[in-house]
Amino acid sequence: MELLDGKKIADAVKAEIAAEVQAMQAQGQRPPCLAAVIVGHDGASETYVGHKERACAQVGFKSTVVRLEDNITEAQLLAELEALNANPEIDGYIVQLPLPRHIDEQKVLSAIAPHKDVDGFHPENVGRMVTGLPAYISATPDGIMELLRRYQIPTAGKHCVVLGRSNIVGRPMANLLSQKGQPGDCTVTMCHSRTPNLAEHTLQADILVVALGRAEMITADMVKPGAVVIDVGITRVACPTAKNGWKLLGDVKFDEVAPKCSYITPVPGGVGPLTIVSLLKNTLKAAKGEVYQQ
Ligand code: GUN
Repeated sequence: MELLDGKKIADAVKAEIAAEVQAMQAQGQRPPCLAAVIVGHDGASETYVGHKERACAQVGFKSTVVRLEDNITEAQLLAELEALNANPEIDGYIVQLPLPRHIDEQKVLSAIAPHKDVDGFHPENVGRMVTGLPAYISATPDGIMELLRRYQIPTAGKHCVVLGRSNIVGRPMANLLSQKGQPGDCTVTMCHSRTPNLAEHTLQADILVVALGRAEMITADMVKPGAVVIDVGITRVACPTAKNGWKLLGDVKFDEVAPKCSYITPVPGGVGPLTIVSLLKNTLKAAKGEVYQQ
């Protein structure tokens, strides 16, 4: 069993990005700039945005946060996005999810200018990704592709089972793994909360991607010997013996599943570190005009 070390790969990609930023600046260009819009005071969203800001600083990007109160109207939020769309100093931006319930998420995501949509959530970018055109690809599936690529894990002809059908993870993941190339060329099965007999499917998986958000639900008896297991779950659970009183659990019961695998991602330190790196990659592409030619 080999551990897929997301932290190590993330550090390597960040060093490559930092070198590119230095080269851009040496040619007299300004560094790439990422903005994050955060509505309200959700603790997890604050933490994520904090991580994104820190990652930007590490590679030499500029970053800025637009903080809005949770009683903002949808029209006011859309006006903020118009301003970001028009601001030439900002290469790309994200609207941190979830949004308050009175705001229509799809309407907001569709109001992001596609060439600044570094989360890859705009329908135009989803469509471009599905058809194999240059696109911003959402961070988690892109990070998993990077991990498979850098560890040179053979994927062609493998049966990949994706658990979860969210727009952010499961659906794009299944699509990317079915596309031509390495990583890719998989035969893909997508399962979800309404799939009966989940274990019947997971036991067929050469590559198992788990994005259900249910702590430790994948047990050793559900995994084929020698499988590659990618765990996207992160659930915070109380842990009286931990320094901060809690710990993070994946969707996979790591201790019993790991000995059966050829490769497995730990939680934390597997997929997580790569998601932020993918956002940085997309922001660099935006600054260089690589997806939408300027
Ligand atoms: N909330 C949870 N994950 C994400 C993400 O990748 N992007 C945004 N914008 N919000 C999120």
